[in-house]
Amino acid sequence: MLSVDEAITSRRSVRAFKSDPVSRETVAHILEVASRAPSGTNIQPWRVHVLTGDALTSLSGAVLDAFWNEPQAHQNDRQHYLEKMREPYLARRRKVGWDLYGLLGIKKGEHEKTRDFHSRNFKFFNAPVGMIFTIDHDMGWMSWLDYGMFIQNICIAARGQDLHTCPQAAWGGYHDVIEKHLGLPAEQLVHCGLSLGYEDTTAEVNKLETAREPLDGFVTFHDR
Ligand SMILES: Cc1cc2nc3c(=O)[nH]c(=O)nc-3n(C[C@H](O)[C@H](O)[C@H](O)COP(=O)(O)O)c2cc1C
Repeated sequence: MLSVDEAITSRRSVRAFKSDPVSRETVAHILEVASRAPSGTNIQPWRVHVLTGDALTSLSGAVLDAFWNEPQAHQNDRQHYLEKMREPYLARRRKVGWDLYGLLGIKKGEHEKTRDFHSRNFKFFNAPVGMIFTIDHDMGWMSWLDYGMFIQNICIAARGQDLHTCPQAAWGGYHDVIEKHLGLPAEQLVHCGLSLGYEDTTAEVNKLETAREPLDGFVTFHDR
C-alpha cells in the first residue's frame, strides 16, 4: 500500500495507456473512495459518466468527428483559464507545453503535429476507461472547488490500484457534442473528462517531468 505522500507524489498526468482493462469493481471502488471528498454543506455536486468498450469508442468517434471536420463550430465558449495569460502563469504554461512537445519531437510552428497530438485527448489517450464529469449549470464557484477535490481524490485513489490518470479540460470544448451524444438532461453541463488506466511505461510522452514552485514562491508564513 502506498503512503498518502507516495500516492500524491506518484500521481502524474499520463498521456499513453496500455490497453489492459480495468474492472468495473475497481472503477466503482475508486469512485466510492473519491466520493468521500469534502463539499461545502455536503452537497456533493459531482456526476460522473463512466465510459468503456463500445460506449467509449462511440463517444470518442463523435467528438473526433467534430474536432477534425467542424472545428469552427466548436470554438471554446468558456473561459478555462485567464482571458489573457500573464506572468508568472504564462512562463509555467509555456514550459510544460515545450517540454511535452519536445518529448514528442514537435517543433514550434508545427501546427498539424500539435493538433494531431491534441486529438489523442479525444481517445482518452487509449485508456480503457474514460470519465466525463458534469455539474448542474447553475452551481456557484464554491461547488467547482468541491469538484476539484473530488477529481483529485479519483487521481489519488487510482494510484492505490496502481492506475494512472489524466484530467482533461479538452473535453469541455466539445460539451455540446457530448451532451447530445450521452443524452444528458439540460441542467447537466459537461465540464471536463479524465482518462484512467495502466501507464504505458514505454511511451516517450510519459517521461514528462513537471516542475513545481518552491514553497517560498507561494507560501507566506505569518507568525508575529
Ligand atoms: C483541470 C485540469 C485540466 C487539464 N486538462 C488537460 C488536457 O485537456 N489535456 C492534457 O493532456 N492534460 C491536461 N491536464 C494535465 C495538466 O497539464 C497537468 O496536470 C500539469 O501539466 C501538471 O502535470 P502533472 O499532472 O503531470 O503533475 C489538466 C489538468 C487539470 C488539473
